[in-house]
Amino acid sequence: MATYRVAVIPGDGVGPEVIREGKKVLDAVSEVDSFEIEWVEYPFGAEYYLKTGKTLDEDSLKELKRYKAIYLGAVGDPRVPPGVLELGILLKLRFYMDEYVNLRPVKLFEGVDTPLRNKSEKDICFDVVRENTEDFYIGVGGRVAKVPIRQQHNLMRELYNLKFNLDIEGDADEIAYQLGVISRRGAERVIRYAFELAERKKKRKVSSVDKANVLTEVYGLWREVFAEVSKCYPHIETEYMFVDAAAMWFVKNPEWFQVVVTPNLFGDILTDLGAMIQGGLGVAPGANINPFGTSTFEPIHGSAPKYKGQNKINPIATILAGALLLENLGLYSSAAKVEDAVRAVLREGKVRTYDLGGSSTTEEVGDAVAEKLRSS
Ligand code: IPM
Ligand code: MN
Repeated sequence: MATYRVAVIPGDGVGPEVIREGKKVLDAVSEVDSFEIEWVEYPFGAEYYLKTGKTLDEDSLKELKRYKAIYLGAVGDPRVPPGVLELGILLKLRFYMDEYVNLRPVKLFEGVDTPLRNKSEKDICFDVVRENTEDFYIGVGGRVAKVPIRQQHNLMRELYNLKFNLDIEGDADEIAYQLGVISRRGAERVIRYAFELAERKKKRKVSSVDKANVLTEVYGLWREVFAEVSKCYPHIETEYMFVDAAAMWFVKNPEWFQVVVTPNLFGDILTDLGAMIQGGLGVAPGANINPFGTSTFEPIHGSAPKYKGQNKINPIATILAGALLLENLGLYSSAAKVEDAVRAVLREGKVRTYDLGGSSTTEEVGDAVAEKLRSS
């Protein structure tokens, strides 16, 4: 029997509750399809940080790098200053593992309400491919209380190492600045992924979303690379959109979209909008993918500390992230079974959490999906 080792980081807040249900469902499908998942749990998160002062150190990262998949609940805790765990765990993982694709499907399931009037599951069904290692997320910037000053920044990535030496002069008393970087190879690999995804899923159009009319350098390069890559896929229609317009069309005409590819920051914002039109953060999964290395699968929502331990939060986002994890292991039909089971439970509408208008517990939803899998 094939065995897959998967690292699990339940994390903080509601993370452990939703991960428990995700594991339950993946265990159920592994039984049905005769494979085995060996879960190896890691304690990273607020508790671990408060105890040890560490988020994720080099040794832990090296160890996690041995896995093909990491299943992550959520991190974030009111006892830890904002940003520490987000940067120290989430972004650290994405950058260290070079998970350059952030795949966030936007899919409305039957039985789930969208806030968009007159839109149904056939209108809201697309994938957002968010670049995940560059753009304004690189953490290069500074606050300068008194110029002139010389600042140096290093940017180390799998693809390149960059050093910025800045001489800042002038008469401003205090400024903050932040640099964004798009590299040709960084853009190319994620845009290519979007086209390959379109091919695999038999989609006919890829939309590039940027703001090349204002941020002409970074997104000018992005556009140029998109145009080049698209030439290799002549049968796939392409489209360029500015991010402000894209936000508008996500709401007005979501049915236009099939695959959207976009730089990191716009991808972050647009996928929260995407989550809302598909019924909320409770049903929105995400995958941070390095196709040749380690990938991390997580719900888009955070740790929601005020709901911790209440068995109340919707585990569907995490369960669907589990389906993305299976796909990443090449277990396509098992992934489809998980999604089908979710679809069936949502369509029936008997078991659902409060965010979807029901009163079921986190655990009851996990049980219902697992049960559906076993009985179909
Ligand atoms: C997300 C989150 C993260 C991001 C934060 C918590 C660092 O909002 O996964 O979308 O901005 O990418
Ligand atoms: Mn976000």
